[in-house]
Amino acid sequence: MANSNLTEAKRAKNDEFYTQYHDIEKEITAYLDYNPDVFRGKTILLPCDDPEWSNFTRFFAQNFQRFGIKKLVSTSYAPESKKYKGDYQPSFFEINAPQYDEDKTKQNGKIFILTHDKTGDGKVDVDDLDWRYLEGDGDFRSEEVIKLRDEADIIITNPPFSLFREFLAWLVEANKLFVIIGNKNAITYKEVFPLLKENKMWVGTTSFNKDMLFISKEKIDPTTLPSSATRTVDGVVYLRSPSIWLTNLDHGRRHEPLKLMSMEENLKFNKKMKGKDKYDKYDNYDAIEVPFTDAIPLDYEGVMGVPISFLDKYCPEQFEIVGMCENEDLYSLKTKVYTTIECKQAYIDKFKKKGTYDLNASGVVIREGLKEKVYQRVLIKNKNL
Ligand SMILES: C[S@@+](CC[C@H](N)C(=O)[O-])C[C@H]1O[C@@H](n2cnc3c(N)ncnc32)[C@H](O)[C@@H]1O
Repeated sequence: MANSNLTEAKRAKNDEFYTQYHDIEKEITAYLDYNPDVFRGKTILLPCDDPEWSNFTRFFAQNFQRFGIKKLVSTSYAPESKKYKGDYQPSFFEINAPQYDEDKTKQNGKIFILTHDKTGDGKVDVDDLDWRYLEGDGDFRSEEVIKLRDEADIIITNPPFSLFREFLAWLVEANKLFVIIGNKNAITYKEVFPLLKENKMWVGTTSFNKDMLFISKEKIDPTTLPSSATRTVDGVVYLRSPSIWLTNLDHGRRHEPLKLMSMEENLKFNKKMKGKDKYDKYDNYDAIEVPFTDAIPLDYEGVMGVPISFLDKYCPEQFEIVGMCENEDLYSLKTKVYTTIECKQAYIDKFKKKGTYDLNASGVVIREGLKEKVYQRVLIKNKNL
């Protein structure tokens, strides 16, 4: 019970990760590089935001004119509805506004709208945002926010991590263009992967190999968290999360085919294939095992199992995604992979419990044919062979 409470508390806290300005700028710039008019004349909705904290509203408001946006709408969630309550204090900006209401500030969400130069200073920016309390708490599933969704052309946000599946379904049911942040693991969800497979959604331009750093509203004491959960940059402690951008807005990187070698060249020259005279094959599925994206052979006609991180280099003109091999009953491809596992002395006891094992010369356990999925692979096929 105590453990499940802790997990719940952690999940609630994870819903309060705020995105850095430069991460938003870097990602959005890639869509503009591909199509400078991508936001021109469009209504953009930023739900699950909190303009006093969030950089999404600030970024799009500051670039409103440059991007040619028609209308920018952002909504925030009521402090009392949040799973993680924290210590809520309305900002001076809100308290000093004529519409300030001391009950509504806790119980209602807010809506911020930007359409024109309200202040008359010759530019459109954050100072021109109009705001009011929403009727409800700003839940993205409320009628009020659904109406805003339906009126928008493009929806952009970092939604609450715990509601990612629901949020994505909410976008997809309305058939909207979107750019969102999600956990890397989300890719394997049965609600998510089919969208990637069918090219209805793809990974954004920020590399898969880097964990994103997020801002916390509260001061973090890094000593109270595992070292992998935070990173301190120039004295500021950020929350670290294995997150990626997911989108259905086009960008240039996804149309750049990977430069690859033939199978023979890989076996000869690719250091990552050292010691191998052929690619391994799974014993229960007709595909070759490709341990690294840069070892994908250019000339293999059949199905290849490649690491999930392939997805940020996936070019739909070059490859077709056939499926995913994640666990025993995912999707129609029920791929189980059997392999040899090598592991350190520390795991011997664990293996003893499971069955046979051997020690090799360096004290490493080797198990042959462990009937257990060990690779998490995307199955792909070259489209041009
Ligand atoms: C991961 S944070 C990201 C905030 C902001 N979009 C950003 O990236 O800086 C998600 C936000 O959604 C809010 N939230 C949680 N549940 C929500 C819901 N059901 N509807 C709308 N917003 C929600 C959280 O309180 C939090 O402010």
